[in-house]
Order: sequence, then C-alpha cells, then structure tokens
Amino acid sequence: MLEVANLTIRYGPFLAVDDLAMNVGAGEIVGIVGPNGAGKSSVVKAIGGLVAPKTGAITFDGQDLLAVPPYQRITRGLSIVPEGRGLFPRMSVEENLVIGADAIGDRARRDRNLDRCFELFPILKERRWQAVGTLSGGQQQMVAVSVGLMADPRLLILDEPSLGLAPIVIGEIGRALRRLREEGLTVALFEQNAKLTCSVADRIYILATGAVRYHDNAETLLQNPEILDHLM
Ligand SMILES: Nc1ncnc2c1ncn2[C@@H]1O[C@H](COP(=O)(O)OP(=O)(O)O)[C@@H](O)[C@H]1O
Ligand SMILES: [Mg+2]
Repeated sequence: MLEVANLTIRYGPFLAVDDLAMNVGAGEIVGIVGPNGAGKSSVVKAIGGLVAPKTGAITFDGQDLLAVPPYQRITRGLSIVPEGRGLFPRMSVEENLVIGADAIGDRARRDRNLDRCFELFPILKERRWQAVGTLSGGQQQMVAVSVGLMADPRLLILDEPSLGLAPIVIGEIGRALRRLREEGLTVALFEQNAKLTCSVADRIYILATGAVRYHDNAETLLQNPEILDHLM
C-alpha cells in the first residue's frame, strides 16, 4: 500500500535519512522503531509533504505520492497524526474532530466517523465539549488519533503517539491500535517505545541514525529482545 524506496533527506549538509526503504501492506500494522534523532519524523514529514526528500520515491497504492500536493494526500486516503499532536487547544474535542473530517465533506459519513471515535475512546464522548488544551496528555493523544481517523483513511500514520505518556495510558493507545487492526485499518507506527510497538505491530523496522538496521516480524523480536538492546 505504501512503498518507500531510496529515501534520502538532508537538512543542509546534515544527512538525516540515508537511502531508506520500507513498505506497508494492506491490513498490516508496521512499526518503525528508533531512538530520538533516528529520522522517524523526517520520514513521516516526507510522506506528508512537509519536507522534500533529496532522493527517493514514495508511492501510495501505486501512485507517485511526491507528485501529489500535500493538502491532497489526505483525500487519497492517507492520515498523519504528527508528533506533538497538532491539535487546536482552545477548541473542543468535537470541534477538533469535525475539522479532521473536513476533507471528506459528507455529513453522514462524518457523523459515522465521530461515533466510531467515541466508541474507540469513550472518554472523549464524555468530554466532547471540553477544550482540548484542558485534557490530560493521554486524552489529547486520543483526540489526535481520532482526528486522523475522522478523515476515514485507509492508511493511518502515527508519529510517536506514546511520547510523554504514562505506561497505563500507553497501554490504552496500544489497545485502540489493536482494535483498529481488527477492523482492517492499515497503520504505520513510528515510535521510540519498542515495547508498545512490538505489542501491536506485525512487522518492525529498526531505524538508527537515518538508516534501517534491522527488519523482521514483531514476533521474532519479542522472542529475541537482545536484538533491540543491541540496536537501540
Ligand atoms: N529542520 C531540521 N533542521 C536540521 N536538522 C534537523 C531538522 N529536523 C530534524 N533534524 C535532524 O535530523 C535528525 C533526525 O530527526 P527526526 O527525523 O526528528 O528524528 P526522530 O523523529 O527519530 O527523533 C536529527 O539529528 C535531527 O536533529
Ligand atoms: Mg520524531
């Protein structure tokens, strides 16, 4: 579904991503695990069109994504939940979610997606009129994931959803991701938290200093945790 090949990203002379290749198949959850500075957000931004890669190709359903203007990528079925969440803190939960559905422009579908988010995260239904900035970090992350879902994506890309969250809340995010996979959603999860990622993903890429160092089934990594210790 998503295919990244020969991706190189530079910031001036600094090589942030070096000849990276990865892919995400329909129905899979793929984890891209790497420490701070590994290049995760740079790859996410290249997919979203916020940074221009120096070299490489990114295709989505066989279409050249780099040729699609960034604002149109969302209407092609790609949602990105950015690092830091990108919410409007003074607006309510529901207002943030409705903005997330802007690209689909179909009221019945919007309401259906809203119900789906509230079912996935019941606390958000209780808090639907509350300003997002007054929610806990975990609840804000639930809003961010929901905003991504409101556009009805076929592929959901998450950039470090666990960042700054307590373990119990991270567990809830993990549970929601497993449910989304059961519903058939395809997910690319960029994370520093290897434990969370291995608990939800089918396949894992380990990224360090801008390059893929390892790639295997999550199952194999879970059985050989020393691989992670060695690479991260
Ligand atoms: N706008 C930028 N200008 C210069 N260097 C950057 C910029 N954004 C990221 N970098 C550098 O690129 C590397 C990868 O960063 P990033 O993609 O944010 O990694 P991650 O998300 O894995 O923490 C880091 O060394 C970071 O300092
Ligand atoms: Mg990052």
